[in-house]
Amino acid sequence: MAAEPTASRAIGIDVNGERYERDVTARTLLVHFLRDELQLTGTHIGCDTGNCGACTVLLDGQPVKSCMLLAVQADGASVRTVEGLAPNGDLTPLQRSFNEHHALQCGYCTPGMLMSATALLERNPRPTEEDVRYALQGNICRCTGYVNIVEAVVDAGGES
Ligand code: FES
Ligand code: FES
Repeated sequence: MAAEPTASRAIGIDVNGERYERDVTARTLLVHFLRDELQLTGTHIGCDTGNCGACTVLLDGQPVKSCMLLAVQADGASVRTVEGLAPNGDLTPLQRSFNEHHALQCGYCTPGMLMSATALLERNPRPTEEDVRYALQGNICRCTGYVNIVEAVVDAGGES
């Protein structure tokens, strides 16, 4: 029988290398768990319907839209958020490349872009422009027109 949406369940999730044990309701979305329970507000909510990609995090190394997953589905998993990219303030080559290429304007989409691109660079360190556009197709940017974002990721290739 399906769990009541308000029923609590104990979960344990590794987030950015730290273990968190919490009681969550069955209906708690992973994005709300990260933002409201762990105060990791770098993961953004743009649509809550799986379209924009602003909420993208890495779940066991794979990019996922955290508004489309329940926190209980991440029980036992390892999650990386944008906060985990530069825990000591040392930007990754990808983040530096975003900066150098002016690959953001309002920045709302940026955490999701960075996480999708990080996953791409980890599996394909020298992506082509086509590879980058394919990997970022689930991430919407309303400001930049994508050109600088794509250049930033291609340029970061080989340096990550
Ligand atoms: S907030 Fe998750 S895809 Fe838009
Ligand atoms: S920089 Fe504004 S939505 Fe992408």
